[in-house]
Amino acid sequence: MSSPGKATARAYANIALAKYWGKADVEYNLPAVPSISMTLAPLTTTTTVRFDAGFTEDTLELDGQPARPGEVKRAQALLDRVRSEAQVTQFAAVSSVNDFPTAAGLASSASGFCALAAAARAAAGLGWDRGLISSLSRWSSASAGRSVYGGFVELPAGTPGDPWLSAKSLAGPEHWDLRIVVAVTAEGRKDVGSTDGMTHTRDTSPYYQAWVNAAPALCDQVREGIEKRDLRQVGEAMEHSTLAMHACAMAAAPAVIYFQPATLAVLHALRAFRRDSGVQVYATMDAGPHVKALCHADDVTRVEQMLAGVDGVRRTLVATPGPGVELIDG
Ligand code: DP6
Repeated sequence: MSSPGKATARAYANIALAKYWGKADVEYNLPAVPSISMTLAPLTTTTTVRFDAGFTEDTLELDGQPARPGEVKRAQALLDRVRSEAQVTQFAAVSSVNDFPTAAGLASSASGFCALAAAARAAAGLGWDRGLISSLSRWSSASAGRSVYGGFVELPAGTPGDPWLSAKSLAGPEHWDLRIVVAVTAEGRKDVGSTDGMTHTRDTSPYYQAWVNAAPALCDQVREGIEKRDLRQVGEAMEHSTLAMHACAMAAAPAVIYFQPATLAVLHALRAFRRDSGVQVYATMDAGPHVKALCHADDVTRVEQMLAGVDGVRRTLVATPGPGVELIDG
């Protein structure tokens, strides 16, 4: 491609219902376990990529501010793959805007790398192909590979040495009217990012292999539960997956502990509420202290009230099943 241009893409955040934790191949960033997520609206990242012969380096702006060197490097690795495939030599200007606060406890790397992959491929003149956008974004951050599709999405475990692993759609957002209520328990950046947390866990946790062995069956239960729209089945497997992942990380040396006091308070309050009210609501967490509650749309007000009443919860935020990545210009 001799004269690449500019493109803008929008991607939605996602939350894993069956967790990814651990890499089968670090170089290609291949997950050691299969995972299943729900894509979340209205939480988006919108990213514009412009290749230009006049640029002397790649630049990256996040929410209007120049990105940190580590973030630029990660974006550059993705841009290099696109340049090599499209035979483009120009540097790029990338600008990315999140419409949800980073401190909301929802990883912006999933929607961020997904939007970047989609916009970079389009700006370089490569055709729209969700499978290729998924494998490109997954290489940068595995959870990003799932934001390519809307609704319910599975990313299989990788085979070491095969860089083309991509996510697949299980069901669109219209399949099931669920809600995720985020209970934000602490502000600020987390101490240990997920990439470092999972590498350290693999290297030092005696429970790592047990986690890798257990994860596929939990993923099967989540997939079957989604097919049947059985919230109890999905919820029980999701809680098991979440707590097994965290137990595995806590058994690392030194321990990786994402829980804060309010995290445990929310987990206990949610379980008591489920038992006493009969409302089907289940908890999940990522590599951070916030708890995300999964429930039917009809129960969302009661679940939000319950979570807002727990000591240490700063605010709540509600998300619905959302669409896949979209090209909005270019
Ligand atoms: C706990 O996708 O952020 O949120 O591939 O190293 O970038 P990298 O990791 P990342 O890990 C997400 C871990 C998780 C669970 C999940 O989303 O499946």
